[in-house]
Amino acid sequence: MDYLNKYKLEVEDILKKFLQQQDRSNQCTNRLLDAMSYSLLQGGKRIRPILLQLAYNAVGGQEKIDPYLFAIECIHTYSLIHDDLPAMDNDSLRRGMPTNHVRFDEATAILAGDGLLSLAFETVLEDISKSNDIMKSKAAHVLATAAGSNGMVLGQTYDMFYENKDISLDILDKIHLNKTGALIKAALQMGAILGYASDSELFALELYGSYLGKVFQIIDDILDITGDSTILGKDVGSDSKNKKITYTTFFSVDECYKIATELTHKAINCLNKVNGDTTLLCKIANDLLNRRR
Ligand code: IPE
Ligand code: IPE
Ligand code: MG
Ligand code: MG
Ligand code: MG
Repeated sequence: MDYLNKYKLEVEDILKKFLQQQDRSNQCTNRLLDAMSYSLLQGGKRIRPILLQLAYNAVGGQEKIDPYLFAIECIHTYSLIHDDLPAMDNDSLRRGMPTNHVRFDEATAILAGDGLLSLAFETVLEDISKSNDIMKSKAAHVLATAAGSNGMVLGQTYDMFYENKDISLDILDKIHLNKTGALIKAALQMGAILGYASDSELFALELYGSYLGKVFQIIDDILDITGDSTILGKDVGSDSKNKKITYTTFFSVDECYKIATELTHKAINCLNKVNGDTTLLCKIANDLLNRRR
């Protein structure tokens, strides 16, 4: 996905910029910020802020939207730090490095996650408080809803609750839709909202995001079995270790790819309803289907 490198580097500059503004005046703030920076600054694909930026560009957005790009990656990173904790998936490798609680300690990892979540909203709310643009508040509302107990946190709760239980495909879809789909869909919605998209463009990008989110987790489930941990940057076999039901419980790997391919076609079809240039949104959908990390 070399064509995305420019966007990835821009996102990484923004992540550094906001973290550098944080107070590092004593040992405790240093340890907290070291733990937050450790997980935030290295190794992520930055898919969510990139999707946000691409959606914004596609509907004609022209301004800088740094606080929103920063916020969504902070929230995603916090979700990964907490997902890896011993009480959750108990994993030891993330983004090619020891997980946060392994590198620091459990309490610090919990607090680093909490810190990233709060810093996300501190950053967007600071921007909103200096602006008259109502769309910024709407975008922040979408982000908060997608992150919390009506979105990712709910999905993670289902995911934990249904560990080691026999569940239907409908329930699995509900888990995926929330734990992974919510933030990915929010990225598209936020880009559309911040860029003053029409209702039909917003709807199309939202639907594109829903399909993409589902594909993303199906591929994540497949890579947990067939992936190469040195490429993935996380341990394979986490799902079977934790007795998770995944797409591969219901379907063979080939069938999973077939389903994911059909969903990707549906996602790409949605882009016909967007007036601007959607070339990169189309390309990224295909690349996320064929990703190896
Ligand atoms: C991993 O997300 C967790 C899921 C929601 C499946 P990513 O695959 O986007 O992880 P990073 O950000 O690139 O590390
Ligand atoms: C987690 O799903 C999704 C999150 C909200 C972090 P997984 O538990 O499958 O993600 P990985 O495989 O650890 O990245
Ligand atoms: Mg998990
Ligand atoms: Mg996990
Ligand atoms: Mg996984």
